[in-house]
Amino acid sequence: MKNENYYRSEVVELIRRLFAPEDNVLIAGRRRAAEAGLPPIELAPEDGALLGALVALVRPRLVVEIGTLFGYSAIWIARHLDSKGHLVTIEANPAYAAVARHNLENAGLSARVEVREGTAIDVLVGVPGPVDLVFIDADKVSYPEYLTWSRRALRPGGLVVADNAFRHGEIVEPKDDSARAIRRFLEVLASDPAWVAAMVPTLEGMAIGVRTDSP
Ligand code: DHB
Ligand code: MG
Repeated sequence: MKNENYYRSEVVELIRRLFAPEDNVLIAGRRRAAEAGLPPIELAPEDGALLGALVALVRPRLVVEIGTLFGYSAIWIARHLDSKGHLVTIEANPAYAAVARHNLENAGLSARVEVREGTAIDVLVGVPGPVDLVFIDADKVSYPEYLTWSRRALRPGGLVVADNAFRHGEIVEPKDDSARAIRRFLEVLASDPAWVAAMVPTLEGMAIGVRTDSP
């Protein structure tokens, strides 16, 4: 087993150019978010492409995204939905949700994406299953709860995907509640027979789990 990694900045740049070139919609969306004072913590473009490929693989009827921010990942997801696919994306901050709606409108995706405002745990109660794909990218302390909900809501064969699974490397020796929560999330995802799980070692770490038939 080799422990070197080849994820140098030149490699990342090439991957972005080949697999994840951003069009004007994505670029304008990020600009609008910056102008509105939103934090610059959207997915990396290559992670957007990964999400898009996973959506194309699963061919979901219903995707739930927890944490919309300005709609960057929602655009990557929704662009790969087929004609029966629908995305519900949840955002706790009404100002962020407004920017996301604007960006999704500009992307021509409003008909297949619904931005629901509120605390995720409250909103999730009202989302009827079965769900085909869940993307978790919201407050890190709640990741374990989001996984519990996903376990219940996903159909067998459905997919959970979680961004920031490395928590900037802090999962090895967690020193705050966010890192501790993500570490706990990973331990459950990796050991619960409800999941066939793996890590995609993106820059931020993207954890994935396929829901098994386990009750
Ligand atoms: C943070 C959150 C994210 O979802 C992310 O991708 C990067 C950073 C944060 O809260 O710091
Ligand atoms: Mg994130």
